[in-house]
Amino acid sequence: MRLLVCGGAGFIGSAFVRVRLVEHGDEVVVLDKLTYAGRRENLDGLDVALIEAGIEDAAAVARAMEGVDAVVNFAAETHVDRSIAQPDAFVTTHAVGTWVLLEEARRRAVRFVQISTDEVYGSIAQGSFTEHSPLAPSSPYSATKAGADLLVASYFHTYALETVICRGSNNYGPRQYPEKLIPLMVLNALAADRLPVYGDGMQVRNWLHVDDFARAIGVALAHGRPGEAYNVGGPDECPNLQVVQRILELTGRDESLIEYVTDRPGHDRRYSLGSQKIAALGWEAQVRFADGLAQTVAWYVDNAWWWEPIRSGDYRAYYQRQYGRALG
Ligand code: NAD
Ligand code: DAU
Repeated sequence: MRLLVCGGAGFIGSAFVRVRLVEHGDEVVVLDKLTYAGRRENLDGLDVALIEAGIEDAAAVARAMEGVDAVVNFAAETHVDRSIAQPDAFVTTHAVGTWVLLEEARRRAVRFVQISTDEVYGSIAQGSFTEHSPLAPSSPYSATKAGADLLVASYFHTYALETVICRGSNNYGPRQYPEKLIPLMVLNALAADRLPVYGDGMQVRNWLHVDDFARAIGVALAHGRPGEAYNVGGPDECPNLQVVQRILELTGRDESLIEYVTDRPGHDRRYSLGSQKIAALGWEAQVRFADGLAQTVAWYVDNAWWWEPIRSGDYRAYYQRQYGRALG
């Protein structure tokens, strides 16, 4: 297949590109704006064409979509805290950008896979969301992602465009930008810096290894029914505090580094996805959280070349704004 992967220089997009090249022999074109989160290094050693442009740029999108069999759209602003501080780019990329991609896909009748999130359903105290659960997003991030999902669904209903939506739970693994919980805590622990836990730390997330999500997206790309959404949840759920404690053990640090800080406004307490629908297409998670977390910590320990330029760059200013103190 010839695939256009939007946002393919990010954390999950680049893992997906790797799986497609290595396991499927696809031809891949990446369209990526290379925001603070997008990095050429994530595609090192991979034979792909990289077009540096935003998905909201209709002319670039039209060129990039020439001759492709399918589009997989990962391109997004992805950090909830940044969406709370400054939502502008979230609206542009998720609403306008997704619409521009859909228009070009419609013009060419190209199959379209939208990468979405469990956050569109909001928080759930008990049990798990199914694909029929109502959308009830809480943050500007999740609200604009939900808007993109509805736009995608409208292109199926109105124009019969072949669309599939994949809603993933919290991903972790190599190459995740260190604003996110796991890499932030790992790198702070390695530097013997404080670990900022929001609120009481008892919020629960459903952890999914990035390679498991990448393979699930491949299954949905090949076998997903047009017009349908598929939940992809991780095999294990865990309160944040327990994740942080395990990271301290894996890095040989003690709990005195934990610092309880002001909670995130509107913080969703728990996410949980039922994944029976994608399982029925033949997908199953391969990586349990305990093993994947240990492998992920080891990856960050071994790959300082990847994260050192981030920790010494703009990320420092972001950290100061978000946490009210300098990165140690
Ligand atoms: P990321 O922040 O690591 O990567 C996002 C990529 O999109 C970057 O390469 C960035 O440069 C690119 N991008 C941003 N705006 C763009 C624009 N306007 N045009 C083109 N490219 C643009 O994010 P990620 O964690 O890899 O997430 C990828 C997708 O998966 C997102 O759609 C996200 O909502 C979804 N998702 C993420 C998770 C998670 O836990 N990280 C879970 C479920 C779903
Ligand atoms: O659930 C899927 C979503 O997971 C994706 O759609 C998002 O793109 C991705 O960013 C992620 O969102 P979360 O808000 O769940 O991830 P984050 O890593 O920001 O936070 C995970 C949990 O950890 C959350 O409950 C907030 C908490 N947290 C996070 C940070 C950065 C802290 O306690 N301290 C922190 O410093």
